[in-house]
Amino acid sequence: MSLASGAVFFIFGATGDLARRKLYPAIYSLYREGKLGKRFAVIGVARRPRTNEQFREDIIQSIKEFCRYKPDANTDWNDFVRHFEYKSLDINNVDGFRELDQQTRVLEQEFNIEGNRLFYLALAPELFSGVSQNLRKGGMLDSPGWHRLVIEKPFGYDLKSAEELNKQINEVFREEEIYRIDHYLGKEMVQNIEVIRFANSFFEPLWNNKHIANIQITLGETVGVEERGGYYDHAGALRDMGQNHMLQLLTMIAMEPPSRLVAEDIRDEKVKVLRSLRAYTSKEEVAANVVRGQYTSGSLKGKDLPGYREEESVNPESNTETYFAAKVFVDNFRWAGVPFYIRTGKRLPVKTTEVVVEFKRMPTNVYLGQKHNLEPNLLVIRVNPMEGIYVKINAKRPGSESDIQPLAMDFCQSCLVGINSPEAYERLIFDAARGDSTYFTRWDEVSSAWAFVDRIAEAWAADPSAIEFYPAGSWGPEKVDELLAKDGFHWWPVNGQDEDEVIWKNS
Ligand code: BG6
Repeated sequence: MSLASGAVFFIFGATGDLARRKLYPAIYSLYREGKLGKRFAVIGVARRPRTNEQFREDIIQSIKEFCRYKPDANTDWNDFVRHFEYKSLDINNVDGFRELDQQTRVLEQEFNIEGNRLFYLALAPELFSGVSQNLRKGGMLDSPGWHRLVIEKPFGYDLKSAEELNKQINEVFREEEIYRIDHYLGKEMVQNIEVIRFANSFFEPLWNNKHIANIQITLGETVGVEERGGYYDHAGALRDMGQNHMLQLLTMIAMEPPSRLVAEDIRDEKVKVLRSLRAYTSKEEVAANVVRGQYTSGSLKGKDLPGYREEESVNPESNTETYFAAKVFVDNFRWAGVPFYIRTGKRLPVKTTEVVVEFKRMPTNVYLGQKHNLEPNLLVIRVNPMEGIYVKINAKRPGSESDIQPLAMDFCQSCLVGINSPEAYERLIFDAARGDSTYFTRWDEVSSAWAFVDRIAEAWAADPSAIEFYPAGSWGPEKVDELLAKDGFHWWPVNGQDEDEVIWKNS
């Protein structure tokens, strides 16, 4: 399906990193796949002066460098880049927006676009409100057709600031016109969670506290804070990954089946999960259930790495967390009593996003359980960078009398030749352009997530130096294992099976 009545895409922050690495390559992929059709135009907006020709050259470079479609030497760029123009703009100057409107009208005529306008703000959140106001004042919202605002995280610093930001944006855009990006929701395997859950009769009936012992969600990164120390030192892992990506993944796993597979019904179910999260009610509860860590110097794959406090633009006495793990409960009928263990950190040994669903063990007093220490069944959903699913079961070791061994049925989607999963940004830009907000976060999701996270942040703020350290390249502070050990569980190894497992692969 291509965009029926066309659209103009405005990329504010057109010369920035996000635009170069993700947005232009995504637009090119959509174009290559015919999803944009011919009735589209893109206007890059940023402060620095640039001609259309220079801008088009930047676009081509970014695609060559970052796009999953590798253009060859014979690619005729003209057909694509003629849809792109540049506008140098001081975003505080309303007149500049009026000029932008003129420029847009010309393009709308040229490409036969019916006034639909999508504003993608790849900008710091402090600028969202001012830009929204000036879009209106400059007449950019007077065209016929729809107007949509796409914004990046972070959406606020806490509930209060998020409410303020939302109020300001709402003065210009209605909730249904606002598309808040959480790029994890654009990932292939995150979207696949719904299908795995609701299209398989052997999962959904077991998807509850009668059969599931615990759920583990890991978002591990090998990178440190790179050149983002200034932002990160203010945010920390809880706000950077926890409030958004982590809780969004959790909602996809825990939500009830929606009555229809439409955006509002799905988001209704997700927000119910967030509202059912058991709030920590005291500092002591936070201390008992949440681990807060920061990496010190260490090494990874033979490379020495600096500690967080030595990173560029980071306060040398910083108490910002680069790691957090928590035991969380979803207090509803489906999940009562099932712990969700969630963890995320920078400078961990592997880059991985993985969900492990651990099923309850077979009874130990019956039949095989009496003689053998039967491992629990696992369903593992691998989100990133490897995409796939594996299911761990017990079976007889071939040829033996009655030895039992764990078997892993491993479906590696990303290993299949010919599957080249679309990047999250491709889906999200396309969804926003066709008005599907399923994989964007609604305001009540954002606010409920902040309400939960704020309790943790407040407890930490009361005792800032209570932080556990872990060497770069390790799996985080030791205390993290205790979180599970207290309940008789342990973290399952990520990105690989136990060594004694036999693996059935699809390759
Ligand atoms: C971003 C965070 O939202 O997600 C970064 O701000 C983090 O700190 C990134 O590195 C991780 O995304 P991905 O897709 O690489 O797992």
